[in-house]
Amino acid sequence: MKITVVGAGAVGATCADNIARKELASELVLLDIKEGLAEGKAQDMMQTATLLGFDTKITGSTNDYAKTAGSSVVVITSGIPRKPGMTREELIGTNAGIVKTVSENILKHSPDAIIIVISNPMDTMTYLALQATGLPKNRIIGMGGTLDSSRFKYQLSQHLECSPSDLNAVVIGGHGDTTMIPLIRHATWNSAPVTDFISAEKQDAIVKATMVGGATLTALIGTSAWYAPGAAGAALVEAIVRDEKKLFTCCVALDGEYGQKDICLGVPVTIGKDGWEKILDFKLNDTEQAAFNKSADAVRAMNDVLKTL
Ligand code: 2OP
Repeated sequence: MKITVVGAGAVGATCADNIARKELASELVLLDIKEGLAEGKAQDMMQTATLLGFDTKITGSTNDYAKTAGSSVVVITSGIPRKPGMTREELIGTNAGIVKTVSENILKHSPDAIIIVISNPMDTMTYLALQATGLPKNRIIGMGGTLDSSRFKYQLSQHLECSPSDLNAVVIGGHGDTTMIPLIRHATWNSAPVTDFISAEKQDAIVKATMVGGATLTALIGTSAWYAPGAAGAALVEAIVRDEKKLFTCCVALDGEYGQKDICLGVPVTIGKDGWEKILDFKLNDTEQAAFNKSADAVRAMNDVLKTL
């Protein structure tokens, strides 16, 4: 099994590090356009192999896609990250060209790959990767909701003083500060609704904190986050490689599900060896459906920008 991570910045390197530690592949290629960066980070990671006890062979490549040939899963993290005060949407001008070129190169050398998109604005970059490659829709997966759901569980666990692992909570919609929809009504603490334990006012605060989770970290760190985004990417790789059929929220092509078509947007899906395999129909109430439609409108407007580039 061979896996490629494109982009050796903080998110890509963290994702690769997680993939290696979990021993998800015998071969892992890290590729970056910046001379030497991927080779250096790959070598640094390989020097942890005996300390961490993994057997994955990690190699770096400066933009030589031939080295990625025959990958089963490819994670795209390429592009610039946001700076404090920026929205993810502001990155489209730079990142669209990068993600299109990367997608085309991946397709040339790994026509059977499942592609996971992390680059921002993630919903539009997922849509772009789907169009640029023409791959079956199940093989293009945007990571955003997986990360946002993890951040949602973190926020809930802080308030409930519980283990985040005891929580089930999903964020659907877009991966933007104003487009994501933390479904607090559906969230449970084991099987009990979390809303039984949290005041309406606090529920609101938790939802808001989740939505700006990425921006909060960008303001603190000075650039966008990487530990959770990288780990979220690796969790999806793991679900594919181990054919887990695990439930994640991912950005996938909708064809009428949740009332939307011709768009990639975050919904609950199962992930296994074929990529995203099944969309789960969470019964949304009118308010949630209206929020989902609004999120779709915003993402569609961003997708339209692609036509002008
Ligand atoms: C984030 O929310 C990188 O979009 C990613 O941190």
